Amino acid sequence: MKMKKKLLAILGSPHKNGATSKMLDYAMEIAEQNGYDIHYINLYEKNIAYCKGCRACLALHSCAVKDDIQEISKLVKECSIIILAAPVYWANVPAIVKNMFDRLLGVMMEETRTFPKPRLSKEQKYILFTACNTPAPFSFLFGQSTGALRSMKEVFKTSGMRYGGSCVWTGSHKTVLPHYIERRIKKIIPNTF
Ligand SMILES: Cc1cc2nc3c(=O)[nH]c(=O)nc-3n(C[C@H](O)[C@H](O)[C@H](O)COP(=O)(O)O)c2cc1C
Repeated sequence: MKMKKKLLAILGSPHKNGATSKMLDYAMEIAEQNGYDIHYINLYEKNIAYCKGCRACLALHSCAVKDDIQEISKLVKECSIIILAAPVYWANVPAIVKNMFDRLLGVMMEETRTFPKPRLSKEQKYILFTACNTPAPFSFLFGQSTGALRSMKEVFKTSGMRYGGSCVWTGSHKTVLPHYIERRIKKIIPNTF
């Protein structure tokens, strides 16, 4: 029997019914139809201490502190695809997402004398979702959504994973997922493999 591909869906918003959560829910619906084995993580339901900057993870390939980052680290290493959905906070990601990145340092990369060496595979893909109040094109022109995407891309790019696309819900005051977002998400998910 063919093994199902593992999809890790991470929510980095405190709003379970907010914009990024709606995007992620829709993506998981599509992914389920496409036969993925889905693992959902809501960062706000997890116990993840701040990174101490001890750098032990670089030798251990995972954080030395035993909390919920261990579960996430294992899923990150095993999955075929990660979808990270996080809103724009100050033209960046929410602190909880940034802290997850910090705690994943040794999972993602190896330190060398020059450039970081990736620890994940180019067979793995990452997809990014974000939402912000600033409407387009100002969300791009003023670096709002682009700031959050840049921050997320930096980590995954360094890890060696391949970019699978992104979806940005600008001017996200509406409560219903706009059709253009649904179309974009549908396009990203099946195209991933
Ligand atoms: C602390 C904080 C900072 C924010 N910073 C920005 C920002 O820099 N640019 C922007 O357009 N929206 C900003 N927003 C608005 C959110 O990005 C927007 O409401 C988003 O839709 C929230 O997504 P969610 O419903 O998935 O949580 C900020 C919101 C909060 C709470």
